Amino acid sequence: MIIAVDGPAASGKGTIARALARHYDLPHLDTGLLYRAVAATVLRHELNPAKEADAVAACDFDDLLLADPALRDDEIGKVASIVSAHPLVRAALLQRQKRFAAQEDGAVLDGRDIGTVIAPNADAKLFVKATPTIRARRRHAELHAHGSSLTFDQVLADIRARDQRDSTRSTAPLVAAEDAATLDTSFLSIEAAVQKAIDLVEAAR
Ligand code: C5P
Repeated sequence: MIIAVDGPAASGKGTIARALARHYDLPHLDTGLLYRAVAATVLRHELNPAKEADAVAACDFDDLLLADPALRDDEIGKVASIVSAHPLVRAALLQRQKRFAAQEDGAVLDGRDIGTVIAPNADAKLFVKATPTIRARRRHAELHAHGSSLTFDQVLADIRARDQRDSTRSTAPLVAAEDAATLDTSFLSIEAAVQKAIDLVEAAR
């Protein structure tokens, strides 16, 4: 069984995808980490995101993926959303994601274009959303807990800018697949959101 989970930043899609992977005992790929690894490399080597990110995306950066917590940094997320708009970067990361989705036992993938581009034939597709204010509140609390001094307004502005970039790019924009079930987590606890996600997957498979 292939489960595709898409949605904007801080919608809860990562938490839901991990919980679904546990529930169904499937391997899970957070595809945002691939774009974040490219962004981290671009930042580290002071490369030009517009001109050199596709070469980075074509490289083997599995080591970086193992350093997953470092990739969660907000600045890296911002640059990830910039490099991910480049069609050549997306093309370079496409096969790796498709291979993951094609594993014999199935897989759970989360990102922005899983149901539309990476696994259009997924058995279950979820589009996870929440209002920008609520997503900013979650992200702000998370950043705060990690010692960040960003204000709520800065986080909200950042979320809005990221939404705008991710939804308006021409290649694989953030959009719900036509056959995706929408899950609004705005007013749900994590437990309730996960249960709802399981119910939706059961209804779809
Ligand atoms: O989900 P996460 O915040 O880790 O993703 C970082 C950035 O990577 C997103 O803002 C988005 O621009 C990009 N991304 C993407 N397609 C995916 C996953 C992430 O374009 N499938």
